[in-house]
Amino acid sequence: MGETVGYEVKEGIAVLAIRNPPVNAVGADVRKGLAEGLRRGIADPQVAAIVILGAGRTFPAGSDMREFGETPADPWLPGLCNEIEACPKPVVAAIHGTALGGGFELALSAHYRIASERARIGFPEVTLGILPGAGGTQRAPRLAGAADSLDLMLSGRPIGVTRKEAAPYIDQIVHGDLETEAIAFARGLLAQGKGPRPTRDCRKGFDDPAAYQRAITLRKEVVADRPDRAPGEIVKCVEAAELLSFDMGMAFERAAFEDCVRSDQAASLRHVFFAERRAAKFPELDGARPRRVAQVGIVGGGTAGRGLVLACLEAEFDVVLIERNGPALRDSLGKINAYLDRQVAQGRLRGQLRDERMMRIHGKTDFVALSEADLVIEAVADDLREKEQVFYQLDAVVPEGAVLVTTTMRHDVSRIAKQTGDPGSVLGLGIGTPAHLQRVAEVIVPSEASADAVAALVGVLRQIRKIPVRVGGATAHIGRAMADACRHAAELMVEDGTTPYLVDEAMRAYGMAMGPFERLDRDGLREDWALRRAMAERGAPEGRQVAILDRLCEAGRFGKAAGKGYYIYDSESPQGRKDPEVIALIRAERESKGIQAQGISADEIQRRCLAAMVNEGARLLRLGVARCPSDIDVVMVHGYGFPRWRGGPMKAADLIGPRIIQRDIESFAAQDGVFWSPEPVFDSLFKAGQGFDALNA
Ligand code: 3HC
Repeated sequence: MGETVGYEVKEGIAVLAIRNPPVNAVGADVRKGLAEGLRRGIADPQVAAIVILGAGRTFPAGSDMREFGETPADPWLPGLCNEIEACPKPVVAAIHGTALGGGFELALSAHYRIASERARIGFPEVTLGILPGAGGTQRAPRLAGAADSLDLMLSGRPIGVTRKEAAPYIDQIVHGDLETEAIAFARGLLAQGKGPRPTRDCRKGFDDPAAYQRAITLRKEVVADRPDRAPGEIVKCVEAAELLSFDMGMAFERAAFEDCVRSDQAASLRHVFFAERRAAKFPELDGARPRRVAQVGIVGGGTAGRGLVLACLEAEFDVVLIERNGPALRDSLGKINAYLDRQVAQGRLRGQLRDERMMRIHGKTDFVALSEADLVIEAVADDLREKEQVFYQLDAVVPEGAVLVTTTMRHDVSRIAKQTGDPGSVLGLGIGTPAHLQRVAEVIVPSEASADAVAALVGVLRQIRKIPVRVGGATAHIGRAMADACRHAAELMVEDGTTPYLVDEAMRAYGMAMGPFERLDRDGLREDWALRRAMAERGAPEGRQVAILDRLCEAGRFGKAAGKGYYIYDSESPQGRKDPEVIALIRAERESKGIQAQGISADEIQRRCLAAMVNEGARLLRLGVARCPSDIDVVMVHGYGFPRWRGGPMKAADLIGPRIIQRDIESFAAQDGVFWSPEPVFDSLFKAGQGFDALNA
């Protein structure tokens, strides 16, 4: 037997211990080891029962996803689960850590399940574009009925085993050493004369057929509009569990699983799962000796600063918040307090925790209060002079080796760092607002930055549960550059004949959380306008310029906060409504340039926006701003509303074919030859017969 599954007989019980760190994923070796261990236990006359458990930190957290997309080696997990269930001796699954997906299915095929009190169970498959494919859709409803088992499968969220929804799956919660408890449990079964109890024979979940059907009908309605396919398939499989025999239900589930696992959606969602983990592996972390961060300073208590404060408090840091004067400080602290109060009122936070958090904020108006801060994040307005002033002041007060972080979106981090005596300790941070609700954070690493500083910031970001993404250089942000490229393609299309509303509609239909013009309105147009004017003063920018945004700003339309931008916002339409004035303004602009309006289809809009993003992504890779294509995907999925099930723009390009995207870019060149010029990487990928994924290695 391979070493991935240990076999030991203790007190007449065979203990099969899965050893496949870090998460005991059920890959080919584990399946083979379990099958061999099971057969050995069945054949051994000294063995009266079998226990399956995970060595190390967890019961298996799922099938090994790296095998998906390939033909799995024998034995397959569904077959192995059936073999476990058919075992003539009782089989006990002893769960700790996270028994997820294929791991949970393995446990469901055992005859009994015990679990450590902190263990969690669940079916995260739906988040990967697939469904439980080893009998989960057939066994779980037999134990728990349709409603609860579907909620587990459709949400994808694991639940604690002590929750009441987990009760149908778990025979006993144990508190001591799991292996000892499992052996005692198995011996107890034998003493009581209890034998195998196949889940396939359980009818408890079907006790109330009308309730079962109601749950199916309701979930069918709920998932009908979802763009991903797996949820609908899950509901159908659970329906089949009651209507078909167990074996036919298993065959039904297998066919649905095979369809889903081979789909582009599943490939994209798997890509994002691994991309998130790859992103967090910064080269600077190897061998770095980062400063331990206990106290974080935040300068600026506006929306950005407050979000950072909340995120740091949640991760139990002490926080010093600096505001420019007493009233501003009181206002900011009041808003933080009000937010935490709302959390308490909604039952999301215990009152005691709110009090503890408020006690950990130290609001001050004097930078001297930062004399013990290990890491300070500046979150003042994105004005270069103001930021330089802050860093000049910080340099005088923070302890030696403290890490200083700027949230500038547009300015050179190295230039800001020059205000300090230790530029190697200065980094940039790109994070959306409100920061405590964001998943991704771009870490801008100028060439002079020290590895220790990077490691300290990455450590803090991990603690506040962000996915850090490395951005090389001192001036760029991945997400911002990608959004700008998409926006320029969209502006060209509007000037050529379509409307901002049709562009936004088409991009939402593609799956984006919002269209480029809705995003502009939300972020405010003023800053872009100022930047464009500054650039124009430095000389005419290259390529075709679209001045519609300038015309809107000249008319006082600065975006959502101003009540109007591309859309109008009022109490009747807080989300914004179309405005004929904007259409007239665009028409006038077009006429002034002698452009004949031409309609552009939704499909064409989507192609152009995607091509613009992919070409920009390729440029960011060439410049070393982005380390790999999947980092770009992570930023776009988590920070810019790109549909996760499309995997991000670079993955989407691979699925379409980079050569096709390149041809698109070439064909758009008539509109703006400078902008629509394909990056050299397209040719090299084509010659090597590769996609962008090859650059993720
Ligand atoms: N397959 C392959 N690798 C996996 C994996 C899996 N199912 N789950 C985790 N890993 C890898 C990660 O990629 C990571 O690798 P790395 O160190 O090389 O980057 C390593 O294990 C550790 O993972 P995390 O960094 O995510 O560790 P955490 O402690 O933060 O989280 C976890 C642990 C909660 C178990 C999390 O890894 C997780 O959610 N895993 C996925 C669980 C899942 O989706 N299971 C279902 C799989 S599909 C399935 O089972 C189909 C079946 O129905 C047939």
